[in-house]
This record gives sequence, structure tokens and C-alpha cells, in this order.
Amino acid sequence: MTHDFDRLWDRYHTGSRKWAQYGPQVLPLWLADMDFAVAPAIVQALGERLQHPLLGYSVAQDELRQTLVRHMAQAYDWTIDAQDLVFLPGVEPGISMALKGLVAPGAGVVVQTPNHQPLLSSPGYWQQTPVQLPFEADGSVDPARLASATRGAGAFLLSNPHNPLGKVFERAELHAIADACVANDLVLISDEIHADILFDGRRHTPIAALGPQIARRTVTLMSASKAYNIAGLKTAFAIIQDPELRQRFNASRQGMVDSVNVLGLVATQAAYAQAGDWLQQANAYLQGNRDFLVAQLARCFPGIHLHSPQGTFLAWLDCRALELGNPQQFFLQQAKVALSDGRDFGPAGAGFVRLNFGCPRALLAEGLDRLQASLQGR
Ligand SMILES: Cc1ncc(COP(=O)(O)O)c(C=O)c1O
Repeated sequence: MTHDFDRLWDRYHTGSRKWAQYGPQVLPLWLADMDFAVAPAIVQALGERLQHPLLGYSVAQDELRQTLVRHMAQAYDWTIDAQDLVFLPGVEPGISMALKGLVAPGAGVVVQTPNHQPLLSSPGYWQQTPVQLPFEADGSVDPARLASATRGAGAFLLSNPHNPLGKVFERAELHAIADACVANDLVLISDEIHADILFDGRRHTPIAALGPQIARRTVTLMSASKAYNIAGLKTAFAIIQDPELRQRFNASRQGMVDSVNVLGLVATQAAYAQAGDWLQQANAYLQGNRDFLVAQLARCFPGIHLHSPQGTFLAWLDCRALELGNPQQFFLQQAKVALSDGRDFGPAGAGFVRLNFGCPRALLAEGLDRLQASLQGR
């Protein structure tokens, strides 16, 4: 490895939300950013941009559009046009723009559970009703439940790859979701922010790449923010291949979603065009963390169960057998480790916590040691 993912960085007093929230006694393994330095190519591009000391309102340059068109072709075998891209200050605002512009108030919005909190709460901001579609215990999608949830709904809000399960959907699973959306005339909003963090040689499939029938009803939301660890730059993009859908999506920008962060655009260009080797090494390091986590849990934590993450840097830990009441609070208070509360991901998350393993292995080991000691002390 030429990049040092083991290096421990002091993120206190840098405005890091993850590290500021609980103070110095607590090891933060919760919020979804990573404790790794970003790729040198990104730092260099930002430095070079700052040599030109004007930072006015910005637009994506053609070079960035072409870089993203190329990335979609190379990474996912997906052909898009430069004009399909809409730049945004985040995936979450993109979800809201899509719901506001494309889905009627009162409509049902199908969301698999557990799920990233904003996917569950966003429909409510636009007077729509989330229709919860639970994953099966093995992480699969039940066809009968899929059929009944999509019947009569207005939209499907997908997380692909999935937060918090770390699930990389198989093509057949995506086909089943796509077919249900086509059959029931649903808009499909596909949050693919975790697309480039993949283990064991997996490939990401954008659901819109499955064919024109599904592409014409899909808003795909992506960003370099997770894979390249630049979430604080608040820059993302939508890919909308149907011109009429794109025009309606853009109309919902008014008064809500302004232009995009000038430095975020520069970093996004550098990420996709120049930081491929860094990403490859980050994925290898994260896969090592995933393996370490899975092995340690199997060896030392008989009361905690998980499905080994296939992508993302997130692990969904089933702590129900430990009977801790509220495991997030227990681990925060007794182990001084901050995890995400499973209940934030929907009611089915009670008894679960989400652990972020996007950190130097020494921190992950320290976190697991603390968790183990807290359980021994019961
Ligand atoms: C699935 C998913 N979607 C969206 C977001 C937030 O994206 P953004 O910061 O671009 O709004 C996150 C962040 O954790 C996420 O995990």
C-alpha cells in the first residue's frame, strides 16, 4: 500500500461532527465518514484551485461531466449523457427534490427497513407516507412483500448498496424491484452514495442501468463523498435520463437547493479522474477491517450477530441476544464507544447498533476491546 490508512489523525477541533459530538472520552464509531486522509490527488487539486483566490457561485465544468460519463461506463458499464447530470449540494437534498417534484402529496413511498434515517423521514416532509418494506432476517427481499408494498404506491426510495446492512444487491434482486416499480408505475429514487465501496471483487449495479423501462422512471443519486471521504464538501449529483423527469426534478430546486460548492466540484473531479488507486487501496483496507471485525465478533462476542458487509464501511450488529435494553446507550456509557442507535433506522432496529469501521484498524481494535470489557463488567 502506498497510502497510509493506519495513520491516526487528531480530528478534535477540526469541526468534525463525528468527533465533537461526545467528547474526548468516547471513541466515535457512529457517523458515516471515515478517519482517513483523502487522496493526495484531491488535496493537490484543492490547493491548486485555491491559488486562484476567487470563490464565487459555481457550475460544473464540461470536464467534470465528461469524467462522470466515463466513470459510469468504466465502473458500471452504464452509458449516460453529460446532460443527464444534475449537480446538487448533497444526496439528501436530492431525495427531497425528487419527492417534492415527482411524487404527489398523499402518495405512498416504499422504503426498505432498516434504512438510513433520512430515507424514512423525507417522505413526511412532503406529506407522503412511508410504506415500510422489511428485509427478511437473511437480508433478502420477499417477493410477496415487495408486491404488496409497491401496489398502489407512488415511489420507491432505494438505498443501493444498502446502509445500514452493507448489502450489495444482486442483479436479480434489483430486477425484481425494478419490475415491481414498472408494473405499478412508481417513480424510483435510487440513493447510490455508497456505490464505490465494494468487497470481495463485487461490482455495483446502478438500478437504472438494467434497461430503458426502469431508466425512464429513475432518479439516481451519487456522490464522491463516501468512497473518497469528502462528505464535508457537500457535493453530489443526480443522473436522470428522461428529459421530462429531469425537468420536473429541476423545477423543484426553486427556493430550496441553490448552486454547488465550488471546492466540492473540484474535489469530485479529482476523485473520479485521478484517485482510482487510492480508492482501490481504501477498499482493500476496509475489506481487511471488515474481516477483522467479523472474526473478532465471532471469537469474542457470542451475543452479537451480523451479516458480513459486502460493501460500505458500515456493520449492522444484532445485539438482541445480549438483552442490554438499549445497546447504543449501554455501549456509550459503559464502553465509551459511540455507535448509531438501531432505532434511528426504523422500529425494526430496536436491539441493533450500526458500527462504522471506516477508521485505522488500531481504532477499530480499541473499540472492540472497549465493547468486550463493558460486557465482561456486567
Ligand atoms: C445512504 C445515504 N444516503 C445519503 C447520505 C447523506 O448524503 P449527503 O451528505 O450527500 O446528503 C448518507 C450519509 O450517511 C447515506 O448513508
